[in-house]
Amino acid sequence: MFSSDESKPVTGQIDTYLSADRWVEGPLLGIETSCDETAAAVLDADGTVRSSVISSQHQVHERFGGVVPELASRAHIESIETIAASALERAGTAWRDICGVAVTQGPGLAGALIVGVSYAKALAYALRIPLVGVTHLEGHIASAWLQNPDFPSSAVVLVVSGGHTHLYKKTKAGPCQLLGCTRDDAAGEAFDKGAQMLGLGFPGGPALDKLAQSGDSKKIPFPKSSIRKAALEFSFSGLKTALLYKLQRMTLASVDRDRAHLAAGFQESIVSVLVDKAFEAVRQTGIGALAVVGGVSANSRLRMLLHEKARSEGIQLSIPSLQYCTDNAAMIASAGMQALRAGRRASLDTEACASLDEASMR
Ligand code: KG4
Ligand code: ZN
Repeated sequence: MFSSDESKPVTGQIDTYLSADRWVEGPLLGIETSCDETAAAVLDADGTVRSSVISSQHQVHERFGGVVPELASRAHIESIETIAASALERAGTAWRDICGVAVTQGPGLAGALIVGVSYAKALAYALRIPLVGVTHLEGHIASAWLQNPDFPSSAVVLVVSGGHTHLYKKTKAGPCQLLGCTRDDAAGEAFDKGAQMLGLGFPGGPALDKLAQSGDSKKIPFPKSSIRKAALEFSFSGLKTALLYKLQRMTLASVDRDRAHLAAGFQESIVSVLVDKAFEAVRQTGIGALAVVGGVSANSRLRMLLHEKARSEGIQLSIPSLQYCTDNAAMIASAGMQALRAGRRASLDTEACASLDEASMR
């Protein structure tokens, strides 16, 4: 695409493209490759998800007990084209009808992000359409409005995933304001580590959730984090240690017998703190709307407790349906649509940024 002097394009076309960043409202392609899911989605200009295709790499990483970055990049390279083509096919959209490309720029695994960003740049160049880079967090936050467009635009947002346990105040105008976050592990990380200690494999969160459904959380209770009630912060590292000590004191036979109770008690300790802090943020901000997003928002016990409390306190609640809780590209397309409307564009020099954080959210 470029000559050895990168500033000089081989053809004259790129000059035309770079200046033609006009956004024509129409179907937008979203691309997400920040971790171990290769995803593509087509979103209509009215916000309707026409397709959302996700290829999970769980089988690739399972035997290592966690995501292996090098293998993740390779798997993204192998499947990105097929997944994008499949998203278009399922949407019934031709390539020529795609009006823009939105891609996760960061944070995430560097090599994995580069695959998505390079692919999105190539598409934007080939199709002569605008490109926009969004943060993974913007995507998760946008997921709360994906199926619920009338949900208030001012809301407290709890992002709970493998990398984040962050509370934001989102208002109609202006950037999201960080209210507080975890001091150590993210909630998803705690679920994954707990699941690993309980011998539940990878990914741990969904397995622990499933097992906990047949356990009694009161049989083997776990401590709640000791952070004072009013502080909008989280800490889950002590809980991990508590599980380790409990397991060390138990015989293998009793662990086998009580595994479901251990899972239920461990889970209860995480989700009750998440619920308490989310509603504390609602109380402190005076905003009567709460959105909970990210992989951990798929947790069945968390969803139940949030719905119960929102109902009893008269708070509007938005939690995406399961397919949009964990990583997906529809949320990236949705965040991209908002960004394009706000005039954001990415040039073909845009690079993946593994450590892109909430401060970058515009
Ligand atoms: O949002 P996500 O797919 O990726 C990140 O951005 O990190 O979240 C993945 C995290 C993992 O830690 C996974 O174990 C957790 O979400 N997770 C769950 C459940 N489903 C996914 N945790 C608890 N219960 C679940 N049902
Ligand atoms: Zn995520």
